[in-house]
Amino acid sequence: MLSRRGCKPEVLILTMVGIGGLLFLFATNEGEHVRKAATRVSSTSPPAPTPGVPTTPRHVPECKENSLVANISGFADLPGHIQDFLRYKHCKEFPQLLDAPNKCGGAEGSPGVFLLLAIKSSPGNYERREIIRKTWGEERTYQGVHIRRLFLSGEAGDVREAWKLNRLLRLEAAEHGDVLQWAFLDSFFNLTLKQVLFHSWLEARCPGARFLFNGDDDVFTNTDNVVQYLLGMQGANDGDGHLYVGQLIAHVGPIREKWSKYYVPEQVTATNSYPSYCAGGGVLMSGFTARTIYKESLGIELFPIDDVYLGMCLQKAGLAPASHVGIRTVGVRVPSSKLESFDPCYYKELLLVHRFVPYEMLV
Ligand SMILES: *[C@@H]1O[C@H](CO)[C@@H](O)[C@H](O)[C@H]1NC(C)=O
Ligand SMILES: *[C@@H]1O[C@H](CO)[C@@H](O)[C@H](O)[C@H]1NC(C)=O
Repeated sequence: MLSRRGCKPEVLILTMVGIGGLLFLFATNEGEHVRKAATRVSSTSPPAPTPGVPTTPRHVPECKENSLVANISGFADLPGHIQDFLRYKHCKEFPQLLDAPNKCGGAEGSPGVFLLLAIKSSPGNYERREIIRKTWGEERTYQGVHIRRLFLSGEAGDVREAWKLNRLLRLEAAEHGDVLQWAFLDSFFNLTLKQVLFHSWLEARCPGARFLFNGDDDVFTNTDNVVQYLLGMQGANDGDGHLYVGQLIAHVGPIREKWSKYYVPEQVTATNSYPSYCAGGGVLMSGFTARTIYKESLGIELFPIDDVYLGMCLQKAGLAPASHVGIRTVGVRVPSSKLESFDPCYYKELLLVHRFVPYEMLV
């Protein structure tokens, strides 16, 4: 909700400033150093242990649009993406194009995975994935526990783009073994579908993972802090108890303004309030809670806003989302106007901060 994933002029400006900054960075010696370090890492790392597998898609009967929705009053006046949502919201199964069956050492090995990073990433966001692989999403062992990474993707809308980007994702999957892709349109209102497909993958391929970080590809996560937080948790939650933390949002309801990215008309939901939920930019949950969400999702029809949908699943299970002060998905308030908002030291204590351009993440 709120400014998350919003496309505002400031973001464009920030991106442009970012590109300028990147050129500057690479023009200096420090940039040279960063670049060298980066090549060194990639040339000495061992071949990916779990190459991405283009699957022979299990036969999934094509899901037909529900044309009866055209009967809903006011349907013709709804924005196109909302009409699409209503036409296809009953479709919950899609062929999987890329899999990573051994990501967790198989279902039996999966209790050995302490933290699985599951990052929603649209096919075109190549640079973001590359930076995450090199920085906070690196697969490694920290404090004796194993961290694994996956990107979750659909397909581009344009046929030619989709053809190119599917090839790109296949290459990435072959090199890094960290891509799950399904044959559905990767759009904002299909993020819930992506989430639900991921949970069913998790059930089959990685049911024992202790904890999950679920987020967007433009967040910076301090993975060390996350692991320390999880290891230090009171009551020795080993992934078998409930945990769902992030930036808590409560007492809000659907935005009924048509211009908003989050516009949800009465035709989608008549209710005026949402259950409490955590902003979807980044959420930390236990394996137990992920499995509970999966079970509940089977009985709850898709809702276009993914983080709200997860709140609905939790509510149905009688579980509450909670807030964590270290998770800031709607930006960090800089303590002084003299301090750079992306002074790296400023993020040392936090678990997660939303919205960075790739080079800021590297810095
Ligand atoms: C809804 O659509 C069906 C089939 O197109 C039609 O037969 C029916 O009359 C419509 N109902 C309403 C209330 O418009
Ligand atoms: C979701 O994906 C399906 C399958 O590609 C597509 O038909 C539908 O239009 C998409 N929905 C939205 C809201 O983009």
